[in-house]
Amino acid sequence: MPILPKLPATIAYGGDYNPEQWPESVWLEDMRLMREAGVNLVSLGIFSWAKVQPDEATYNFDWLDRVMDLLTQSGILVCLATVTASPPPWMSVKYPDVLPVDANGVTLYHGSRQHYSPSSPSYRRFAAQLVRKLAERYRNHPALAAWHVNNEYACHTSECHSASSTVTFRAWLRQKYGTIGNLNAAWGTAFWSQVYGDWDEILTPRRAPHDRNPTQQLDFKRFTSDAFLQLYQMEKAILNELTPGVPVTTNLVWFIRAIDARSWAPEMDFIAWDCYPDPLTGHAAEHFAAAGHDIMRSLKKNQPFMLIEQAPSAVTWRQINPPKPPGVMRLWSLQALARGADGVMFFQWRASISGAEKYITGMIGHGDPAQSRVFAEIKALGAELKKLSNLTGTVVHSRVAVVFDWQVCWAIELEAKPARIDYSGWTQELHRHFYERNIPVDFVHPDAELDQYDLVVAPALYLLRKQDAENLKLFVSCGGTLLATYFSGIVDENEQIVLGGYPGHLRELLGVRIEEWIPLGEGQTNSVRFTGNGAVTTSREWSEVVHLEGAKALAHYEDDFYAGSPALTENVFGKGKAFYLSTKLDELGLAEILKLVILRAGVVPVLETPTIASSFQGGT
Ligand code: GAL
Repeated sequence: MPILPKLPATIAYGGDYNPEQWPESVWLEDMRLMREAGVNLVSLGIFSWAKVQPDEATYNFDWLDRVMDLLTQSGILVCLATVTASPPPWMSVKYPDVLPVDANGVTLYHGSRQHYSPSSPSYRRFAAQLVRKLAERYRNHPALAAWHVNNEYACHTSECHSASSTVTFRAWLRQKYGTIGNLNAAWGTAFWSQVYGDWDEILTPRRAPHDRNPTQQLDFKRFTSDAFLQLYQMEKAILNELTPGVPVTTNLVWFIRAIDARSWAPEMDFIAWDCYPDPLTGHAAEHFAAAGHDIMRSLKKNQPFMLIEQAPSAVTWRQINPPKPPGVMRLWSLQALARGADGVMFFQWRASISGAEKYITGMIGHGDPAQSRVFAEIKALGAELKKLSNLTGTVVHSRVAVVFDWQVCWAIELEAKPARIDYSGWTQELHRHFYERNIPVDFVHPDAELDQYDLVVAPALYLLRKQDAENLKLFVSCGGTLLATYFSGIVDENEQIVLGGYPGHLRELLGVRIEEWIPLGEGQTNSVRFTGNGAVTTSREWSEVVHLEGAKALAHYEDDFYAGSPALTENVFGKGKAFYLSTKLDELGLAEILKLVILRAGVVPVLETPTIASSFQGGT
């Protein structure tokens, strides 16, 4: 199915278009240049709430009508913003409950953007009214191709502790637990005298003297993702009612921790995401983008996604913001297509002359477009994408799945652990080995249907429900190959230890028992020797004391009091095999292990050639 029914066999190409920042005379020039560049879609007016609704009683759509008409005349479709991402100042002055509050009790004020609490009744009321008016106005407009709801939910305001959020959090908990006793049991409040007698005693996890209750924090993260999702659903319901058949989406950013994108995906008609690799990091940037594309594509299997924002060249929000060297913008755009995108869009069409983003490169810059290297590349890409339109609708088939769960991410990153574990970094490190070998990878939740995969890699599945462990067991028993890694199966969904020995519900599947965790300090290592070829590799960051319970050791630690303890094991389980890696190895050691499991699973690269060297020479 095409992601945009109005652009069925065309790769969407364009960017955020913010005409409210410009006099109307510039709009005509914009139309001419968009046609020249091959633009066929714009995300229109994302931050224009103040212009659309200058005060509580006044709506002003005339200017937007003219832009929509101009775009139609130019043959350009619109992914129309619902305009709710940055409320106008009058709103927070008159209705201060709109404003979010951080964990220290500090209110975040207007003067920037995203200054709203997801639980604010006033914000919700004004957003719903506005979306209804927009949908009523443009429901039959020929330019309307899709809806772009809000913008990067939770990017800047990743949580809110306002009075409204506190009340809504209590209601969410009530719904989840039913009784205060259930909540006390799940949160383990017997510890440190945290027992609650009444719902009204419960707070959002605000600043406190020492480490806060982990389950309370985890539930607050779940609540926050749900609260933003409800805002999205509120807008979507209005749009579906008034414009049935017009696709609705929002722009995700996968590493924004506050959103569990997997629970959002069913609510999105197509997945759209913003990808901003750091040009300074060279090849690592390309892998960062590849991992992001794979994770986003996997949210809706067998359906293309849209790269809805990328930078034409430089941004401004890193310490150092170099431009993308010649050819890199094209390369990274084609990379998105190859990994399943049906659209290549930018932030933004025309670089601003004022405000906080004026040094972010636009498709059109501050100078004469005819003399701009970036615009020349934009035009060339537009022409090239037209020739690639037969790629639309194509999907990626993977035989390898990497397990990635936002809930694990939240839980493992809470304070008071044996060591800080960079879950998403470790996941990306494992993904990179497949990327380098041209082996396609899907990202899955541990409860996913796994029978379509030959190999499943599950990094640090710290939080694991029993039924998800059963799902992994089923996969292996039917013949699959699993590679699980350290600090897995430790806690249940309430962040409470699974008793009886680590790795909890995975113990039988992996055929091992973990007795102790040994986090390694900066620069501290242990040597690991492979049993088969005797090769020695270096273990870093984390190691474990492992006992065999049916599994076979494939490598051992050589140093320290746990010398001789297995570092890598293999367990036959039903028709399949489950491997367990209890440490992080150096590059070569890890490559060896992945080679082993890839071979065992019979997975082959889509391109048998060595990884094609990037034309991008920057960075490392
Ligand atoms: C994105 C955001 C855009 C713009 C862009 C600048 O994250 O969605 O509105 O701010 O960054 O790089």
